[in-house]
Amino acid sequence: MRLHHVVAAQDFNRVMLEELFATAREMEEVVEQGGSRILEGYIMASLFYEESTRTRFSFETAMLRLGGSVISTENARQFSSVSKGETLEDTIRILSGYSDVIVMRHYESGAARRAADISRVPIINAGDGTGQHPTQAFLDLYTIEKELGRIDNLTIAVVGDLANGRTVRSLCYLLAKYRNVRIFMVAPEVVKMREDIKEYLCRHDVRFTEESDLRAIAPEVDVLYQTRIQKERFGDRTEDYLAAKGVYVVDRNLLRAMRSDSIVMHPLPRVDEITIDVDADPRAAYFRQAQNGLFIRMALLAACLGRDIVPIQTAVTVNGNK
Ligand code: CP
Repeated sequence: MRLHHVVAAQDFNRVMLEELFATAREMEEVVEQGGSRILEGYIMASLFYEESTRTRFSFETAMLRLGGSVISTENARQFSSVSKGETLEDTIRILSGYSDVIVMRHYESGAARRAADISRVPIINAGDGTGQHPTQAFLDLYTIEKELGRIDNLTIAVVGDLANGRTVRSLCYLLAKYRNVRIFMVAPEVVKMREDIKEYLCRHDVRFTEESDLRAIAPEVDVLYQTRIQKERFGDRTEDYLAAKGVYVVDRNLLRAMRSDSIVMHPLPRVDEITIDVDADPRAAYFRQAQNGLFIRMALLAACLGRDIVPIQTAVTVNGNK
């Protein structure tokens, strides 16, 4: 069966994730061999209403590496007819007549679902405001499995802007699909994890605790998942931003408290929440993580367009199932 819209992480179950990761592993080989033509004749519309480096470039590279073509706007608010007052729905109606798949980043939570509701072609959510970033969460799990050899029995600390961080929200939804996962949530008071995620984790019997002392829990973690305090989400609440910024920093001192077989991840971009002298440590996995985004997005595009190398067996309709 063919994968259709990719809107929310919790729509995926373990079987689908395992098949996606199997395809991503195949895509690593495809890239090694210089690419493929399996998406020749297909067009991807890359519709970005918010800034991006990794997500946009990796999706566009993924399409090109598979022989497809890309039409693109990297600043849809300014450089599309949205600036003349066109609605998201009308934009999607038009683009779904021109392209075979739409990769969209939007500044409003829920925008990807609205687009999926009216689109004739698959919508891939490339981040919707403070809502979700499912494709980032797929590549995060793929990285964890690649680096540590497992996702079950994992202890992970998610750190930083947990209230606004769409990557970490999607990651929590996916972690709930795995066995014996323990989550430490470490966030400044003004950006603590929202109740919807905590309720979801409770419903799925995932152990989590809110912690304030990152150094104290560092020796216990397999994965330290750091995130940026997102200045752009605070609006005029400058005091809140300043209260959150710089509270939790991963530096060489903190690395000394971590186990030698643990890893540090970050969806990037980083500002100052991981010091650059951490980069040379073999546990710093964040650049490898960004590279994995290419393979996962190649696998997603192939699956959405029905041209997967390893067949995807299940459609994306399994809400909330482990
Ligand atoms: N991780 C991530 O979404 O990065 P970009 O904002 O650069 O796409």
